Amino acid sequence: MKIFLDTANIDEIKTAKKWGLLSGLTTNPSIIAKTNIDFKSIATELCELVSPFPVSLEVVARDAEGMIAQARVLSKLSHNVVVKLPTNPEGLAALNVLKEEGIETNLTLIFSTSQAVLAASAGATYVSPFIGRLEDRGYDGLGMTRDLMTIFEKYKFTTEIIAASIRDPHQAIDVCKAGAHIITMPFAVLEKMLLNTMTDTDLDRFLNDWEKVPGKDVAFIEGSLDAGV
Ligand code: G3P
Repeated sequence: MKIFLDTANIDEIKTAKKWGLLSGLTTNPSIIAKTNIDFKSIATELCELVSPFPVSLEVVARDAEGMIAQARVLSKLSHNVVVKLPTNPEGLAALNVLKEEGIETNLTLIFSTSQAVLAASAGATYVSPFIGRLEDRGYDGLGMTRDLMTIFEKYKFTTEIIAASIRDPHQAIDVCKAGAHIITMPFAVLEKMLLNTMTDTDLDRFLNDWEKVPGKDVAFIEGSLDAGV
């Protein structure tokens, strides 16, 4: 299972890289707007920072012709750009053209199993079901994820499922149980998955006990553990 971050915050991305937990990045117009940085600057920085891993950048046109034109511009920005298209008739019409040009696509704003199946059938590189937004509205987003994995395996789709809109560590683990290829999440969720007060407390216990160990002060000096020292 690959972990992507759903953010345009440079510091968050750098931290996830430092932890070895970054295999890609997803954004959307709302995430980009939060940076208050001109699009070319932030998009360029994101692609450079995340390279060689994929960075999803979303078109903002509503018609297929406009999406295609914007996707071509986005794809020239960097080798690792993946173009996000809305999963609707115009988005699929754009996908149908872009896939012939070798432009990788992420069909987004998916709220039903049927949308994801159609997007995969149409040749999307990735599909992004919005699990959290479905669950927020009382729908079974996690059940949808399980159904998608069953269908995608049955038909051997090469499209990868990016479980998106993840609200908390529990939802992240539920998505893992469902077997999603990729999970994209806000940095805050990733951090909550890692941090645990019991780890901190019991580490303190270990280190307090270490203080009683004879020779503790030289134990980790270079060469101190060499044979015959
Ligand atoms: O990538 C899609 C994602 O950004 C939507 O998540 O948290 O806005 O529901 P959220």
